[in-house]
Amino acid sequence: MIGLKRGLVKGARISALGVHVPERVLTNDDIAQFLDTSDEWITTRTGIRERRIARVDEAASDLAVAAAERCLAASDIEACDLDLVIVTTISPDHLMPATASIVADRLGARRAGAFDVQAGCTGFVYGLAIATAFVAASIYEHVLVLGAEVLSKMVDWEDRGTCVLFGDGAGAVLVQPTDNGSIFSFDLGNDGSGAQYLSVPAGGSRLPATYATVRDHDHAMHMVGSEVFKFATRTVTESCEKVLDDAGLTVEDVDLFVPHQANIRIIESAARRLGFTDGQVFSNLDRYGNTSCASIPLCLHEASENGRLKKGDMLLMAGFGAGLTWGSCLTKWEL
Ligand code: ACO
Repeated sequence: MIGLKRGLVKGARISALGVHVPERVLTNDDIAQFLDTSDEWITTRTGIRERRIARVDEAASDLAVAAAERCLAASDIEACDLDLVIVTTISPDHLMPATASIVADRLGARRAGAFDVQAGCTGFVYGLAIATAFVAASIYEHVLVLGAEVLSKMVDWEDRGTCVLFGDGAGAVLVQPTDNGSIFSFDLGNDGSGAQYLSVPAGGSRLPATYATVRDHDHAMHMVGSEVFKFATRTVTESCEKVLDDAGLTVEDVDLFVPHQANIRIIESAARRLGFTDGQVFSNLDRYGNTSCASIPLCLHEASENGRLKKGDMLLMAGFGAGLTWGSCLTKWEL
């Protein structure tokens, strides 16, 4: 059964994982050197202590290729076997062509289709749902899903309300068929009436680039943080309840909850409303900030490396972001 909006999908699994983050670390104290802010404010309001920042010559595809190569090295296939490459991002290399086209070419995925998914920070969950549907429907066997972001180039470094929140990074997962009935339960949602709360106003067909749009920093991310905060805590809770319900499970059945890493207060509030204990919730926000579409795969990698996520564990992932969009996915971890 394949539920496009919401429901259970059988027959697909995450079979490999790879991540990459830039070397440069930017701490809160570093930011306080050039902006009216402090480590104390950022840490207490967000939980973020530092983030990774890409080099001047690095774009989303560069981080994506590095993550994809690690993912493929951990898999049983080569790039030329890939059927589909999906890049989820809000900081693509260009408006056109898709970053996925560049990534697939650099990987040598010659027979793969390639496209980007833009669903704000929920992109990774949307991409995973698309990959799962293709694999479960037996249309494709090897689908690579990437979350890749260079948000340091999308924020206004004079706007202390946004620039302190974001960081750069990439993660890749391979989705392949499985015979042993692995279950994905998805819930995808959208409320476009909140589009204005999180946007890059200029550079598209609504407000093409002009001298004035550049002068006014309208090519950078604009955010009404308090509205996003309220929306996030509500939708993450409701969406997670839906996927658990669809699978006939409860929070007690979940071994690890990996929410999108935007703000520790959002994570704690959603976890509390859902009834999770601290031991069930994973966060690495303190070291990476909000890496948008890369945040969930970065967590999965770290949790798997340090033993918090083990083969056979029941994993719940939840994203939210620009759109406003949200999405959840429940799956058995099989790595
Ligand atoms: N340093 C110091 N002071 C600051 C900073 C800063 N970096 N940023 C804002 N302030 C000030 C404000 O100017 C304000 O001052 P004032 O009272 O004198 O006007 C005060 O701090 C409080 O500002 P608020 O915006 O009310 O602070 P809040 O507690 O709401 O925290 C935050 C702001 C962290 C942005 C919070 O609203 C939040 O995390 N929202 C969710 C954002 C989010 O999740 N975005 C990502 C979504 S995913 C995607 O698709 C990209």
